[in-house]
Amino acid sequence: MAETRVTIAIDGPAAAGKGTISKAVAKELGFAHLDTGLLYRAVGAKVLAGAEAVEAARSLTADDLQAGTLRTPEVAQAASKVAVIAEVRAALVDFQRAFARRLGGAVLDGRDIGTVICPNAEVKLFVTASAKVRAERRYLELSTGGHEVSRDEVLADVKARDERDMNRAEAPLKPAEDAVLIDTSELDIDAAVAMALRAILDKTGL
Ligand code: CDP
Repeated sequence: MAETRVTIAIDGPAAAGKGTISKAVAKELGFAHLDTGLLYRAVGAKVLAGAEAVEAARSLTADDLQAGTLRTPEVAQAASKVAVIAEVRAALVDFQRAFARRLGGAVLDGRDIGTVICPNAEVKLFVTASAKVRAERRYLELSTGGHEVSRDEVLADVKARDERDMNRAEAPLKPAEDAVLIDTSELDIDAAVAMALRAILDKTGL
């Protein structure tokens, strides 16, 4: 598998299970994984700390992605606000495309991977779940991670971001025409990963 340049694009709304599925699939196939949401979260965090958004995106480093505070709802909101800015998105394109074509295969998850970043990806998955299920999963994730949040706050965050992400002019969240849809509302992690792997196998014969 070392010579492959297969790209797997996994998009979907907030907390749909993209991250979990992407990590599991990458591990199973021996591919590298990039959580592109982290790029926007890192820019959002810099803006919350006083930076200008476009400048923050242009000067992003690998270290910025390691910050321990990137998973909070405040940073998530800031991320979706900077993500509407065309120049911010443009500053992050080359890095994502280079990652996608790396030798050994790559899984990228985000909002616009199959539509804008990698329209020629060999496999495109669009992972969804109802807003209620997504908010409950994110609530459990945040509260077990030590963040003090209420269910209502988390649901409001998820809904506000979905709204902003789907309705922006630049690279809005939507399934690519040739994406395979996976609704995880009624699936546990193992079943969702199995469905993703089956779709990947079907498309690539890996
Ligand atoms: O983990 P979760 O699904 O909650 O969010 P994320 O993937 O970390 O993304 C945070 C925010 O970054 C999203 O709400 C989007 O506004 C933005 N984003 C984007 O615009 N394009 C991407 N490829 C990835 C994230």
